[in-house]
Amino acid sequence: MNRVHNDNFAARLDAAAHKVATLLATLLSQSPLEGETVRPKHLILAMRHGVLNGGKRLRPFLVLETARLLDGPEDAALRVAAALECIHCYSLIHDDLPAMDDDDLRRGQPTVHIAFDEATAILAGDALLTLAFDILSSPGTELPDRAKLALINQLARASGVGGMVGGQALDLHAERVTPDEAGIVRLQAMKTGALLRYACAAGAIAGGADAEALARMTRFGEIIGLAFQLADDLLDVTSDAATLGKAAGKDAGRGKATLVSLHGIDAARCRLDGLVEEAALMLEPFGARAATLTEAAGFIASRDR
Ligand code: IPE
Ligand code: IPE
Ligand code: MG
Ligand code: MG
Ligand code: MG
Repeated sequence: MNRVHNDNFAARLDAAAHKVATLLATLLSQSPLEGETVRPKHLILAMRHGVLNGGKRLRPFLVLETARLLDGPEDAALRVAAALECIHCYSLIHDDLPAMDDDDLRRGQPTVHIAFDEATAILAGDALLTLAFDILSSPGTELPDRAKLALINQLARASGVGGMVGGQALDLHAERVTPDEAGIVRLQAMKTGALLRYACAAGAIAGGADAEALARMTRFGEIIGLAFQLADDLLDVTSDAATLGKAAGKDAGRGKATLVSLHGIDAARCRLDGLVEEAALMLEPFGARAATLTEAAGFIASRDR
């Protein structure tokens, strides 16, 4: 199904992408901070290559829009958004490594290990992972200590062994031993869903949400997380590298189990539509104020890259 998104949504997504890219560019051009010695130039260049290269910045957008929905401070939300994007970009740099998906193209450019070398790509990923926690914990992120601690702890959980990294491990294993449907859904909820879930939960925490709003936004994040990977797997089958800015047709080539390989394109699209509806229902209590987030769910499902 093709959905038409209004210009306002596109403009908001664009503005958020610009804001977060500007902050990331600043953070990746700083001189050594207190407690640091030098910042090796070639490592900074590799980090910049992996971050400042035209990603959609959807996770930052979700942080910012959720914080806005709950009247949270924009400056702090932007720093949380930048921290999350560092984790996401690190996950992509490592995902593309020869030992993982072995991809040469990302966001229309050579992947970091191609533009630099494998060891530098590994280290650029490591450095982005730790930078994320530096950004969140530093005094520049002006939020109550309790909120900051929750943001740090939840980012660690979303990123680590029981979240994104664990999901990547299950995903690689699934190339050898095909999981059942529940297994696929679980690994996708981890490798991709955990960071999208965090985006919405983090925006809510930065916005000082009460328990009910936090639970609702967290659930919304879980649903769009599943939708996001389902859409990615559909695009892998139906699109091409020129449009995606990354290789297409990779999943079948690697014997990767996805809901598309299991049920076929039409059933996967149908399921995707169901997830978008479920996500919209989650936002209903927020009324018209949540219109942009509702559109974001539609965008995730119907995006072309
Ligand atoms: C790609 O994420 C990796 C997955 C989790 C499927 P995005 O599609 O958000 O990639 P960018 O950041 O826009 O390049
Ligand atoms: C990537 O999933 C998930 C993470 C990077 C955590 P994919 O391997 O399907 O992502 P693409 O297709 O390379 O962007
Ligand atoms: Mg992968
Ligand atoms: Mg990949
Ligand atoms: Mg993919």
